[in-house]
Amino acid sequence: ILPFILALVLGYICGSVPFGLILTRAAGLGDIRNIGSGNIGATNVLRTGNKKVAAATLVLDALKAVLPILVARYFWGEEPAMLAAFGAFLGHCFPVWLGFKGGKGVAVMIGSLLALAWPVGLIFCAVWLLIAFTRKISSLSALTAAATAPIFAYVLGTDRLALTVLLLALLLFFQHRENIARLLKGTEPRIGGEKTAA
Ligand code: G3P
Repeated sequence: ILPFILALVLGYICGSVPFGLILTRAAGLGDIRNIGSGNIGATNVLRTGNKKVAAATLVLDALKAVLPILVARYFWGEEPAMLAAFGAFLGHCFPVWLGFKGGKGVAVMIGSLLALAWPVGLIFCAVWLLIAFTRKISSLSALTAAATAPIFAYVLGTDRLALTVLLLALLLFFQHRENIARLLKGTEPRIGGEKTAA
């Protein structure tokens, strides 16, 4: 049981580093929580108008899941690695340092999938890009990619992988509850749209 606990805690600690908040502050762009949707993720960082900081947020938020997964796999095996992914997701969405108010888990899910089963990760990215280019709404792209990911994980991977991905997808949907409400009302902002849409 110890490897599982260690993997979960390691994942949580890595996942709880709020790169979006740190990078926007370091770049002198202010507190990301007072901009746009208030989310600390790359989509909202993009609303500052700084594409480089947004890209760096996306990459680092993905890597903070990759790192604990690879460490857990190396030391303890595949199932603890899945728990590390879950820990990173919890850390990102509910970071103790920010009063448990964190991000929505899209970049972390991408990193987790690429590290756990890269073909599933690539499909997630492809679905995200397809919807992003056709509909131009970040949250809708993420929700569609997350909804389909457990199916691809089941087909291409193991039952345990599918279960892990399903849990991540459910949490991602929960974190997007305000986005879902806006999507249903037709008020969700588009990528590259108004910089301060809420
Ligand atoms: O990455 C999160 C994205 O799906 C939605 O972000 O800022 O539009 O709520 P946001």
